[in-house]
Amino acid sequence: MELKAAIHGRKSIRGYKEDPVPKEILSEIIEASLRAPSAMNVQPWEITVLAGEPLEELRRMNVEKLGSGALPSSDFGHSKPFEGVHKERQRALGFELYRLLGIARDDKAKRMEWTMKGFRGFDTPAMIVLSADESVESRMAASDIGGLVQTICLVAFEYGLGTCINNQGTLFPDEVRKITGIPETKKIYLCIAIGYPDWDHPANALESERETIETMVRWVGL
Ligand SMILES: Cc1cc2nc3c(=O)[nH]c(=O)nc-3n(C[C@H](O)[C@H](O)[C@H](O)COP(=O)(O)O)c2cc1C
Repeated sequence: MELKAAIHGRKSIRGYKEDPVPKEILSEIIEASLRAPSAMNVQPWEITVLAGEPLEELRRMNVEKLGSGALPSSDFGHSKPFEGVHKERQRALGFELYRLLGIARDDKAKRMEWTMKGFRGFDTPAMIVLSADESVESRMAASDIGGLVQTICLVAFEYGLGTCINNQGTLFPDEVRKITGIPETKKIYLCIAIGYPDWDHPANALESERETIETMVRWVGL
C-alpha cells in the first residue's frame, strides 16, 4: 500500500465485528512496528497484547469502577481540561460523533453508555497495552510510544484492521496492572483497541477534521 494512502485512510474505528484477530497477524503487525524510531534507540515501550478472558476482565473492571463513581486517572495524574482552541477542537469532535450516533446533548444516560463503550475499548477482540519502565523519563517515553502507536495503527490498516488509540481503557492503571501482570514498576501509557471494523456502525462514519498547514506551521528562514 502506498504510504500516503495509508496515512489518509487510517482513522479511529469505534465499532467492531466480533471476529477474533489471529495471533500471527497481531504478531506480524507488531513486529513491523518495532521499526519505529525512539530517542537514542532505547525502545522504551513494553507491549502487552490482551484477548479472551483477561480482556473481558479488564472491561468488567473498567465498567464496575466507572459505574461505582471512581475517578479515572492515569499513572501521570488526572488530565487537565483543554482550553481555548484545543477545547474547541475537542468539542467539534464530540459534537460530530454524538450527531452520528444520534445521541442528544442532554441525553446523559446515552452519553454515559457511549463513554462506557470507550472504557470497554470498543469491545474489540484484542487490545494492545503500552507501558514503559518508571525509570524512563515520561516525556521521552511518551513521544517514543506515540511513534510506535501510529506505526501499529498504520500497519494494522494495511491488514484491513481497524484501531482506536484508547486512553480510556487504561485509566484505572493499578487494576490494569493486576489483571495483566504488568509490574508495579511500569507506567501504563495507553492502549490500542484493534479488530475488524463494523462498517455499519454509525461511529465509523466519523471523519475527523484537521487544521490547515497555514494554521499549524510557522516557516522560519524559508
Ligand atoms: C493519545 C490518544 C488517546 C486517545 N484516546 C481515545 C479514547 O480514549 N477514546 C476515543 O474514542 N478516542 C481516542 N483517541 C482517538 C482520537 O479521538 C482520534 O485520533 C482523533 O479524534 C483523530 O481522529 P482519527 O484518529 O479518526 O484521525 C485517542 C487518540 C490519541 C492519539
